[in-house]
Amino acid sequence: MLAFTHLSFVFFFLLSFCASVMRSSPVTMADIDIEADSQVLGVIAIARHGDRFRYFQNPDTYKGGPTETTALGEVESHQLGSILRSEYLSPTSPSYIDGMRSDLVDNRELKVLVKNGGEGTVIFDSAIALLQGLFPPTPNNKITLANGTEVLAPLGGYQYIPVETVEPSNDRSLESWTDCPAFEKHIKEFYASDEFKQKEKDAQSFFHAVKDFVFDIPTTLKNAWNLYDFINSQLTHNQTYAYRLPPTLIETARGLADFHENGVFSDKESGGIGNIAGRTILHTILKSLERVAFNDDPLQFELIETGYQPFISLFHELEIVKENPDLQAIPNFASAFVIELRRGSPPDVRDFLRFRFKNGTGKGFKTLYVYGTHADIPLTEFIYKAKGGEIANNRQWAEVCAGNSVTLTEQFMDEVSYAAKHQTVSTITLALVAFIGLYVIRSVFFRAAKVTGEKIRNVRGRNVRLEGEEVLNVEVMTAQVLPDEKIRRI
Ligand SMILES: *[C@@H]1O[C@H](CO)[C@@H](O)[C@H](O)[C@H]1NC(C)=O
Ligand SMILES: *[C@@H]1O[C@H](CO)[C@@H](O)[C@H](O)[C@H]1NC(C)=O
Ligand SMILES: *[C@@H]1O[C@H](CO)[C@@H](O)[C@H](O)[C@H]1NC(C)=O
Repeated sequence: MLAFTHLSFVFFFLLSFCASVMRSSPVTMADIDIEADSQVLGVIAIARHGDRFRYFQNPDTYKGGPTETTALGEVESHQLGSILRSEYLSPTSPSYIDGMRSDLVDNRELKVLVKNGGEGTVIFDSAIALLQGLFPPTPNNKITLANGTEVLAPLGGYQYIPVETVEPSNDRSLESWTDCPAFEKHIKEFYASDEFKQKEKDAQSFFHAVKDFVFDIPTTLKNAWNLYDFINSQLTHNQTYAYRLPPTLIETARGLADFHENGVFSDKESGGIGNIAGRTILHTILKSLERVAFNDDPLQFELIETGYQPFISLFHELEIVKENPDLQAIPNFASAFVIELRRGSPPDVRDFLRFRFKNGTGKGFKTLYVYGTHADIPLTEFIYKAKGGEIANNRQWAEVCAGNSVTLTEQFMDEVSYAAKHQTVSTITLALVAFIGLYVIRSVFFRAAKVTGEKIRNVRGRNVRLEGEEVLNVEVMTAQVLPDEKIRRI
């Protein structure tokens, strides 16, 4: 959390840097849907963080190692923010969000969630950079004091936007794939599949060729993510390395990593364990859609800053890959998956959803269709179809992760209590988790107590406490499943 203390310094640097970059390379929009049909009521944007330096993930557990934000990553995220601004906050855009304030941010209209698990600081930094592009500094961000003096916010009217971090130690919605035995079993089965073994055989010449360029990473298909991420990071940041790497190795490495991550983060069926990354974020999406659709709720824009994992899972869970098999791959840095809530024009004034994907900084938005539809899907139909796969709270997550296996294990319990003990403690104390309750009746049941403990942090360095946030200690075996006030049923 130390990282956050020097953020303001980093911002200052980035801001000036981004400003010059944005001036020299104006953002171009290449968008395939042009019709200005229905009115956009609001959007949910799921964004992948920008470039960072090397991220190791344990191929069995998907626990991550340390990684660092780079200036390039901040530029990418900032650029995505500017693009989202011109797309959704510019009154001349066909996708303009009706009635949303765009010069000065209205914090009731905007909500920002940041996954604070693996790659945590990188994702946080990317969210801030994106917001700097979405709501850039403005000379209008000023006030007049009682004595008549005008005061402009620092950095030429910088806009300070609150950000909620979501820690997997007490809220599994944005990182559901770690500490989950059923998911680890799913990974094992993928590694043991014929398809995987065949792929590994076919890639032998690549593994041989790449040995000298990956230092100590084992050259096996199981490590495809780590091989690709290492090569890609070096190729981006290390000139000596870039000059030496034989051509085509990076493409092959990417192809194998795509195969690997797609296998790990997908399932043949909607509602399957392999889609867990998509199924938990789906709940966040449904909850927010409900708010945006509700006329008396001011929320119009929700940003969820996260990693690549839920993209792949959502593409499968929402049956988008059936017609877009090319989406069975890792999205590039600073990709965005945007869900637009649109109100139909008379006579059909129902609410509809439109899904759009932007693969990194190079490409424009592409409209995608879910569940085999070929048009915007009515909100009610989407909710009806999506509900089946949704994982709505920590307790349901724990049940899904325990699966039906009788081997709900001491290790799982250890990990759960480890998570409870080692949660992040920052300037404010966080809420906590506690899990527990272990009953054996044929198979094993598992109960978890859940407390939602999202933190709000904003870049002023002031911490704001969310209502209902408590530090609780729940004793083993007497744990009650606490009502989750954050969850509203649709
Ligand atoms: C007005 O108040 C501000 C803040 O107290 C102070 O910095 C400033 O000097 C005052 N201006 C005048 C003209 O008195
Ligand atoms: C850059 O690449 C060279 C050659 O592969 C390597 O020796 C060096 O350690 C790399 N530098 C960094 C910072 O990783
Ligand atoms: C994104 O683009 C890269 C090439 O830049 C490609 O390799 C990858 O498959 C694409 N990912 C998705 C999810 O479309």
